[in-house]
Amino acid sequence: MANIFTRTADGVMDWFNARAPGFMPVYRKHMSEYYAPKNFNIWYIFGVLSIVVLVNQILTGIFLTMHFKPSAAEAFASVEYIMRDVEWGWLIRYMHSTGASLFFIVVYIHMFRGLMYGSYQKPRELVWILGMLIYLVLMAEAFLGYVLPWGQMSFWGAKVIISLFGAIPVIGNGLTEWIMGDYLPSDATLNRFFALHVIALPLVLLLLVVLHIFALHEVGSNNPDGVEIKKGPKGNRWSPTAPADGVPFHPYYTVKDGFYVGGFLIIAAFIVFFAPAMGGWFLEHDNFTEANKLVTPAHIKPVWYYTPYYAMLRVVPHKLSGVLVMFGAIAILFLVPWLDRAKVKSYRYRGLMSKVLLGLFAISFVWLGKIGAGPGTDPVETIVGRFLTGFYFLFFLTMPIWTKIDKTKPVPERVTTHD
Ligand code: HEM
Repeated sequence: MANIFTRTADGVMDWFNARAPGFMPVYRKHMSEYYAPKNFNIWYIFGVLSIVVLVNQILTGIFLTMHFKPSAAEAFASVEYIMRDVEWGWLIRYMHSTGASLFFIVVYIHMFRGLMYGSYQKPRELVWILGMLIYLVLMAEAFLGYVLPWGQMSFWGAKVIISLFGAIPVIGNGLTEWIMGDYLPSDATLNRFFALHVIALPLVLLLLVVLHIFALHEVGSNNPDGVEIKKGPKGNRWSPTAPADGVPFHPYYTVKDGFYVGGFLIIAAFIVFFAPAMGGWFLEHDNFTEANKLVTPAHIKPVWYYTPYYAMLRVVPHKLSGVLVMFGAIAILFLVPWLDRAKVKSYRYRGLMSKVLLGLFAISFVWLGKIGAGPGTDPVETIVGRFLTGFYFLFFLTMPIWTKIDKTKPVPERVTTHD
């Protein structure tokens, strides 16, 4: 019996390979013969988890689109209809809305891993740049999505964020009107945001993710030790030419990742079932009320994943300067591969100064996030926010200095494992 199956499977594969001989080498390059360092730790699963959450957003998004009405008159009611009347609609909707926050949690950890292990350093600058482009598109995608349910925060959030373009001299007001298609967020705005959210940006996102992974597989993965396994000794039990410290991605990391994906899905299910709005952090209370252009919510603030940048915008007194600081904070991240002058990649082998500064950077980013989520009326908080914003920029602008002068420890010849 087994013979018939294996012979048939082999036959199908031969038939396929004869007609598409280019496919198998791609599979080998990216899966069965992609030699990943054998010392990956838990920080290395967040790339795969990013793919998992991306797939979740696309699948649940398709089903939401079947029932959602992209018009200012019907959008809010259609979301209520999904939540109350569509079979399993509440689950699909929460998987999508909570999924957006999970996406950012996973991506922020993934980015921090990159900073910790110097994964942006040569030869992986392009992987980082493509990652940053993904991050930009992801922020735009989430913003557009948040406007669609047409709740109070959708409307007022859209108004505040789009009006930021008004700070640009000369063309600002015209640009704001052009983006909205009106003088206020309206039916036209909702229509175009829907088109961009469900088709244009997801396509760009998918393309960028494919390029991100291809770019990574050209140079090979970094690892917690930050030593290049491709440069090290060759030959292991799979191939005499493969890096000695590499294991084939499949089945070794597909199995390991599979285990962690299972764990992640259990945690994600818990959140979706028991705290989908996370006390207002994932879905704001104001967004359960329909948009009303005559009633401004008491505190207009974006969702938590934008609040560090929003805090920077608010603590700078001058509007245009605030906008420049906010966009500058994102732009500077693109330059990290060239700002870091350390001889070693991983923070494991960097000095105390680098470790402390990276730790302080993480704390100040989260703190800014907390300030950005608050009402913005406390003058002490504004001063703290200015100080933290200054530190954010100083961290990057002085990076060429402290990464160069800080002492480093000798890097091992081969990757280290604790097995
Ligand atoms: C949709 C979002 C993203 C997806 C699906 C994704 C996917 C992946 C995958 C599958 C890997 C290989 C596994 C791993 O090393 O964890 C990876 C590596 C990497 N990603 Fe991403 N990524 C995303 C966003 C980002 C962002 C926003 C950045 C940073 C700006 C980034 C920077 C990197 C870097 C530097 C590596 C190489 C890590 C190393 O070899 O140590 N990625 N990504």
